[in-house]
Amino acid sequence: MMTKEAVTITDHRTGESYDIDLVDGALPAIALRQIKTPDDDFGLMTYDPAFTNTASCRSTITYIDGDKGILEYRGYPIEELAEKSSFLEVAHLLLHGELPSGDELNQLAGIVGGNMAVDESMKKFIDGFLPEAHPMGMLISSVACLSTYYPEAKNVSDPENRLQQIHRLLSKVPTLSAYAFRRNAGLSYPDPDPNLSFAANFLKMIFADEDGSYTPDPVLERAMDVLFTLHADHEQNCSTSAMRGVGSSYSDPYSSLAAAAAALYGPLHGGANEAVLRMLDEIGDKDNIPAFIEQVKNGDMRLMGFGHRVYKNYDPRAKIIKKLAYEVFEVQGMNPLLDIALELEKIALEDEYFVGRKLYPNVDFYSGLIYQSMGFPTPMFPVLFAIGRTSGWLSQWNEFFGDKDQRIARPRQLYQGSPTRSYEK
Ligand code: CMC
Repeated sequence: MMTKEAVTITDHRTGESYDIDLVDGALPAIALRQIKTPDDDFGLMTYDPAFTNTASCRSTITYIDGDKGILEYRGYPIEELAEKSSFLEVAHLLLHGELPSGDELNQLAGIVGGNMAVDESMKKFIDGFLPEAHPMGMLISSVACLSTYYPEAKNVSDPENRLQQIHRLLSKVPTLSAYAFRRNAGLSYPDPDPNLSFAANFLKMIFADEDGSYTPDPVLERAMDVLFTLHADHEQNCSTSAMRGVGSSYSDPYSSLAAAAAALYGPLHGGANEAVLRMLDEIGDKDNIPAFIEQVKNGDMRLMGFGHRVYKNYDPRAKIIKKLAYEVFEVQGMNPLLDIALELEKIALEDEYFVGRKLYPNVDFYSGLIYQSMGFPTPMFPVLFAIGRTSGWLSQWNEFFGDKDQRIARPRQLYQGSPTRSYEK
């Protein structure tokens, strides 16, 4: 028997039945609006706070199977990309759908290298922040500020114009991130060096002495590059949804990306890597772990770096990062917090509270340890996440404009306030 790609819904209020055709295997929420009682009511809506079961778009960029712990960009497993590709290759893949040829990669590297510098006035803008300003606040503000330099970026309907802004953002976010670090450190703002790789250039702008000297260690350069790749995209997460949502009003991409970075800043999202380090510092000693776990189980706090909305199995990025951590420690020396992290992970993975709720280490559990060993202060961690994720935000934003079904994002609500009442004073 031929199966019909449809569901039948019976409205027990009226006894009416409705056949609703599925679209790409999903229930089109708008089809529910025909279900009415009485006939002139608004029609049935879905209620889905936090969008736990609502697809907001079609996408061909990133695939996640949370139960199996699978993450793929354009069909390539993250493990292979992390091992075999550079971050710029991955950025090209996310944006254009295919890995670049040698020529395409050289071209992209040239464009990015040539776009990394920012106007001198941006250095003054960064200098206007308090020395102790959080670098994520500086990054968000300076990316938004960039929109004032490129008024033509508003023309979001033009694919070539979009690509030019995408290249600019991909190139300038690392520079602004490095300058935010330099502001905190009270150091000058070195210009990028177009002859260096993406990761080496960023590391040099961060760690160069005042006389400009810095030679990145190849292990650290590769680790930085892999970390950017691992953070490059993660389908419709909170910050990507912000990028698409803000972009859906045809804001320019600098403003939209500032909004995405703001969403990433929160401790439940990209700010978690920072929170993990603070947590490990607070625990301080392996002996304190059992008491800490009890507090988590009592609901007094969360085990940061654990749990994920989508992964209900080990986060594949966490596995790669754990391995990478040892390579970095070999160059930089062991991070003393590693012992606490390993023990915490071991206990949590055996404890019924975490096992029952399918709470496993996520990407942020070990990334902070690597960043710290590389010499980044804790507040820089979400900034490093943002540099990699910029490629995903922009690819998702660009995809939005090719999707005929997309319009300005505008969820519905279930109004539960006062009925109309007369104004009396
Ligand atoms: N520690 C302790 N309990 C937890 C944790 C945790 N980290 N995460 C979830 N739970 C519990 C939660 O209390 C709830 O228990 P109960 O059913 O008894 O009420 C259950 O697990 C389900 O949690 P939830 O809050 O409904 O799950 P969610 O899908 O809404 O939240 C999350 C996902 C990532 C926000 C959450 O797991 C969390 O807060 N983790 C810690 C922060 C973190 O590491 N964030 C980084 C995410 S990965 C990088 C990124 O994408 O940004």
